[in-house]
Order: sequence, then C-alpha cells, then structure tokens
Amino acid sequence: MNLHKAQIIDFPKIPDERGNLSFFENEKQLPFTIQRVYWIYDVPGGEMRGGHAYHHLEEVIVALSGSFDVVLHNGNEEHRFTLNRSHYGLYIPKMIWRRMENFSTNALAFVAANASYDESDYIRNFTEFQQLIQDASNRI
Ligand code: TYD
Repeated sequence: MNLHKAQIIDFPKIPDERGNLSFFENEKQLPFTIQRVYWIYDVPGGEMRGGHAYHHLEEVIVALSGSFDVVLHNGNEEHRFTLNRSHYGLYIPKMIWRRMENFSTNALAFVAANASYDESDYIRNFTEFQQLIQDASNRI
C-alpha cells in the first residue's frame, strides 16, 4: 500500500563546463505545492534520522551533497533508496514510515514538503503506524 507511489524524480540537469545546475518548481517537477523546506546536515557518522511517518505530509528528499539511504516501510515491506546524485529526488507520499541512515561525511539532505511543520501530523510509534495501516485496509 502506497509504497509503489514512492519514486525517484529525475530533475532537469543543465550541464555546463562551469558546473551543473538543477531545479524544481511547484507542480511542474513536483507532484505538490511546496509550503516548507528544511535540510539536515552535520550528521555524525552512524546516526539515523527520521523514524516516523506522517498522516498527511508529502515530501521530496534530495541529496544535495554526499550520500545517504532512505528506507521506506509501508507496514508490510520495506524498500531502500540510496540518494547520491543532486539531480535526483525521492518522492514520499503520506503514511509511509521512513528512516534515513548511512550518511556520508558532509551529506546534505534537502527536503521540500507540502505543509508547514505540525507535530500532530507525526506518527512516531511504529506499532501505532502498523495499526493505522491495518485499520485503513480493513475499511476497504
Ligand atoms: P524531526 O522531523 O523529528 O527530525 P527527523 O528529520 O530526524 O525526522 O524534527 C526534529 C526536531 O526539529 C523536532 O523537535 C521538530 C523540529 N522541526 C521543526 O521545528 N520544523 C521542521 O520543519 C522540522 C522538519 C523539524
């Protein structure tokens, strides 16, 4: 459920001998309208970020520098994406558990999201997440 909607978006890349340039714009390269961006950096070796899902939030994660893994879980199965190119973004729909790990030195994770920060949108307990997934599939 939902995991198939998670996908790598290949952003435009303008090659130039002075250096490459990539970009995205609301509703063109992105499947949503950006309300917020944030970035994660200076991650000590071996640390993990994330470890939660969102009720409603959708995000696109880009490794602007370095590399890291984003591990997605839909309650039944998990899939690992390694991000290491700054013209690739990983789109993550709502109700997907995610964790980020294996950060390289100087990794910079840039995240565009479709809503403002709202702690009540977080699901931080994996058992609760699985229960919500189960409840949703029982309603179908
Ligand atoms: P959190 O989303 O839990 O971090 P992770 O990237 O590891 O999932 O956020 C960590 C802290 O930062 C938490 O106290 C909330 C705060 N925060 C904001 O205030 N605004 C934001 O946009 C984000 C993403 C987090």
